[in-house]
Amino acid sequence: MPARKHIRLSVNLNKVALLRNARHTNVPNVLNFADIALEAGSTGITLHPRPDERHVRRSDVTLIAKRMRPLRPHKELNIEGYPDSEWIKLVSKVKPEQCTLVPDAASAFTSEKGWDLTASQMTHLKGVMKKLRTFKTRVILFVDPGFSAFEKARTLGADGVEIYTGEYARLFTLGKHAAEIKKITSTARRARELGFDVHIGHDLNLKNIPPLIKETSAYVSEASIGHELTADALRLGFSQTVRAYAKALNPNTPIPEEGGYDKNPLHQFKKWFAETGTETQPNAMILATATKKALPSARIVFLRNQDTRGFTFFTNYKSRKSRELSENPNAALVFYWPTVARQVRVTGAISRVSKKESAAYFSTRPRESQLSAWASEQSFPLKNPESLEEAMHLLRKKFDGKKIPLPPHWGGYRLTPRECEFWQQGDSGRLHKRMLYTKRGASWKQEWLAP
Ligand SMILES: Cc1cc2nc3c(=O)[nH]c(=O)nc-3n(C[C@H](O)[C@H](O)[C@H](O)COP(=O)(O)O)c2cc1C
Repeated sequence: MPARKHIRLSVNLNKVALLRNARHTNVPNVLNFADIALEAGSTGITLHPRPDERHVRRSDVTLIAKRMRPLRPHKELNIEGYPDSEWIKLVSKVKPEQCTLVPDAASAFTSEKGWDLTASQMTHLKGVMKKLRTFKTRVILFVDPGFSAFEKARTLGADGVEIYTGEYARLFTLGKHAAEIKKITSTARRARELGFDVHIGHDLNLKNIPPLIKETSAYVSEASIGHELTADALRLGFSQTVRAYAKALNPNTPIPEEGGYDKNPLHQFKKWFAETGTETQPNAMILATATKKALPSARIVFLRNQDTRGFTFFTNYKSRKSRELSENPNAALVFYWPTVARQVRVTGAISRVSKKESAAYFSTRPRESQLSAWASEQSFPLKNPESLEEAMHLLRKKFDGKKIPLPPHWGGYRLTPRECEFWQQGDSGRLHKRMLYTKRGASWKQEWLAP
């Protein structure tokens, strides 16, 4: 059996939207539930806009895509749906990390039948794939357990399959699910052998996930769950429920390291970041700075972007950290992810990102956060907290109905790493592994450190 890997949970918000649609008050607010799900450890959000908009609406899709922008692609947006021209128009606009194609008729009550890849479906899907390939997205085909037309799926250029688990869930309630688990497992195994991503979804819940995961965890990389999770959330609370589902999918965290470490620590970081699983704020990092006399100070900031250039965060350019950085551009970062028993330490030089990059990020922030960036003279003495409310009130008036521009004193910094250390707790809390990367010209030296 291949090594176990982390199974991503993509929370489907359709049923939260269904409840919202029962009134004209925007309660519950689907955007807030996306925030809660992501904070509680969901690695993505699934939205399935149906033509009649009885669950999420097309406008929800664009709003959630925008809200998730700073977190993507670490946190993924998955848009499900029957690929008609309206749906394709929508996904082409928001460019989700993943598209899950279902063969539902517009009138379908729910998605309970996968693609058979008949000749007419193939003709349709070939055209669809051509359009989806104009932007980068993972394409998943919804299929039934027992699906075998993998060659056709390959011809289409699909990246993976989502195996329908509704029948398994039905049989589970009758205690007659053993054969269905076997069927799902052999389909999942075959798909993996052929290099397809394997997802599962439909009516999965805290009771029926464990026996299915026990057999399929080596093959499955993602579960998309909505209805049962939302029903459980009525009892347990949304955040608590998302955590419970993420844990049910990954009962054995911490995750063992799979394969070797990447040669580049920035790629290794991406990999570990994607495996933070149920961590509530994996992008919260300690930033340590020092004055020119080497007097240190530290605080938490959010990582907003990470690529091969380094680690980016945003702040006030007149704050204490910024003053220290202008005197001494060396800094250190620490990430701590207790649920997977990992720590990452980074040191390096810091420089400001371009105004354009700061403005692009600033425009994705909620309006109130944009206003507070204008209102707060970060790190300076304040008469009292109420005076900030007054400033906010005046700014709300000033910018009423207008786009809020990037404040001149606000923007991003990028830390270009010189050293990165990846720390993984050992079994029973002993013999931790420490991998240190040190920059040597254009490449990286790698060495183990004693714990
Ligand atoms: C979880 C968390 C995330 C934070 N993220 C940021 C951030 O991204 N940018 C920021 O300027 N401050 C952030 N803060 C506030 C900082 O910790 C700090 O109070 C502020 O930046 C002022 O620090 P300074 O006086 O050392 O400059 C965050 C605080 C917490 C607890």
